[in-house]
Amino acid sequence: MAEFDILIYGATGFTGSQLAKELRDQAPKGTRLALGGRNAEKLAKVAEPLGLPVVVADAMDKAAVDAMVKRASVVVTTAGPYAMYGDHVVDSCVAHGVHYLDITGETPWVRQVIDRHHESAKAQGTVVLPCCGFDSVPSDLGVLFMVKMVRERLDQGTKSVEAAFSIKGSFNGGTLASGLNIGEKFKAKDLANPFLLNPDPKTSREAWSANADPKGPVTHAQLGSLAPFFMGPVNTRVVRRSAALLADSPQSYGPEFSYQEYMRMGGTVSAWGATLAMGAMAAGMAKPAGRSLMARFGPKPGEGPSEADMDGGFVKVRYAATAMDGQVLQGQLKAPGDPGNRVTVRILAQAALCVLEGEDLPGGVLTPAVALGQRLQDRLVATGKWEMKLLD
Ligand SMILES: NC(=O)c1ccc[n+]([C@@H]2O[C@H](COP(=O)([O-])OP(=O)(O)OC[C@H]3O[C@@H](n4cnc5c(N)ncnc54)[C@H](OP(=O)(O)O)[C@@H]3O)[C@@H](O)[C@H]2O)c1
Repeated sequence: MAEFDILIYGATGFTGSQLAKELRDQAPKGTRLALGGRNAEKLAKVAEPLGLPVVVADAMDKAAVDAMVKRASVVVTTAGPYAMYGDHVVDSCVAHGVHYLDITGETPWVRQVIDRHHESAKAQGTVVLPCCGFDSVPSDLGVLFMVKMVRERLDQGTKSVEAAFSIKGSFNGGTLASGLNIGEKFKAKDLANPFLLNPDPKTSREAWSANADPKGPVTHAQLGSLAPFFMGPVNTRVVRRSAALLADSPQSYGPEFSYQEYMRMGGTVSAWGATLAMGAMAAGMAKPAGRSLMARFGPKPGEGPSEADMDGGFVKVRYAATAMDGQVLQGQLKAPGDPGNRVTVRILAQAALCVLEGEDLPGGVLTPAVALGQRLQDRLVATGKWEMKLLD
């Protein structure tokens, strides 16, 4: 038996320190938590008030990471950018059969993890669960819920789901650093591949263009005036991987299933304004000069919004699911708190506890819907801060 049930790696970071507190508060009595990081002094500052033990390991030191990982049953890491600091941690977890969770949105890096580890993790029953924060749980569990509703209420498969996000919150320095690193290290073509995370990412030209990320405003019959959503290029890849992994199971979404997501417009923000802002941001990220401007003026690693801003934020998602026969069901998710911190930390803590308790979980490099599905949904609902429901 491992010495620790859950080890939180990156516990000195902006989200990591919040996760440490959340898990200390939410884990059942007797859960053996520990905090990991590279800086003993900083770790002690987080750990001492929480009364938790620490393990010091630099992410670039493979031997130290191995020694740390072996001491835990589940490792949850918030040490990002993951394409910089994530390889040894995930490699070591798979090598030692330790379950792994993170909150990356770095899809090309996730692709590498799938290629390296999916088959062995599946064979040995190790859960490797990236994208377990705001990206991409509201999308992935929202679709799972809508497909289940279509199956239960209309007794058929789902043809498509569209999701429209309304959010309040700003992003952390660690998130900006991860976005900049992705823009620098990976090819734009990979980022644009709608099926980048599917078991087989190769796709026909027709399927690519039918599922390409939205480029401009859209008026949707049920969801109203919509614009491209900046997290869509991450979340849609995760949902499509879920659909592909579940295709031959009783939970299959439907033979022609497709998913797209948007930002919901209203009030003073026009769909065109949001489209232009999103285009400028993407163009800036793609160019070295744009990246250096953002790095200079944006929040730095370790920084993030104020407590008041995190408490005052929210996530609201409307879903429209079209059944095979054309009937449409609508649903809604409401979660209080800013997306990148309060909501992300709540999701990640419940997911880690779910993995710790789930003895019969499937192994592999999975998605939240495939690895945890309804169990995570139930846990989040039980927090009282996750309302997922069908609309009349
Ligand atoms: N999915 C989501 O919705 C979501 C939300 C928020 C964040 N994120 C992602 O989560 C990650 C962390 O974000 P954040 O805002 O918490 O960033 P942050 O405050 O900059 O924290 C980064 C953490 O990584 C650690 N670290 C850096 N280099 C390391 C190394 N060589 N060895 C070990 N640890 C190292 C830092 O340690 P030190 O303290 O010693 O520097 C710190 O603990 C980012 O990739 C971000 O994109 C995702």
